Amino acid sequence: STSTKPLRGAFILFEGGDRCGKTTQSESLVKHLHSKGVDAELWKFPDRQTAIGQMINAYLQGKTETDDAAVHLLFSANRWEKRDAMLAALSAGRTLVVDRYAYSGAAFTAAKGVPGLDLAWCKAPDSNLPAPDATIFLSITPEAAAKRGGYGSERYEKEEMQKGVARKFEQLKDATWHSVDASMSVEAVEAEVRRIADAALRSCEDGRPVQYLWL
Ligand code: TYD
Repeated sequence: STSTKPLRGAFILFEGGDRCGKTTQSESLVKHLHSKGVDAELWKFPDRQTAIGQMINAYLQGKTETDDAAVHLLFSANRWEKRDAMLAALSAGRTLVVDRYAYSGAAFTAAKGVPGLDLAWCKAPDSNLPAPDATIFLSITPEAAAKRGGYGSERYEKEEMQKGVARKFEQLKDATWHSVDASMSVEAVEAEVRRIADAALRSCEDGRPVQYLWL
């Protein structure tokens, strides 16, 4: 039930390539949860507000060049600096709807194909961060995504890169993973998302402990 305070909030993660509809769907889910009286907040990674986030932002906008390994560790550090606040929110009963996290971290860097920066290397720094209770992967082909008004101008918003990222996401599927066909209508995707989120909330209400990466 949503009227009694749950023992902990759920960590619901949205992942997917660029232009898959994550922003629309994550905002819509938070509104839906609020309308049901659920204490929920939308978080986003990278969090560009922090000092580390500002370095990431400058890199993504092409204003700075940063070594690929170093920038990968900045993305990870940007999650680590939020870890305590994340755990505190969940144990206070607040549900976190998160737009991108460690799966994006590993998929995007590994997709660059830099020697030595394979998927295992990319996953290592995020090991032991809080794990999502459900990962909603909005699945869309890079071709279909490109048709949605085209990619933006940031560093990774190129079709070739997005194809590589999609292949890496495929290798990161775990027990939390729910793939949703993002080429459906907004309403059809919303319905799927709500079903997955409701199940995740119910699984956390009784205080099931937070899990940690990598499952
Ligand atoms: P984001 O701010 O979510 O951009 P958008 O809203 O346009 O999807 O993410 C910016 C870019 O950073 C995006 O191309 C994905 C990439 N990224 C990483 O490379 N590593 C990470 O750890 C994260 C969270 C994102």
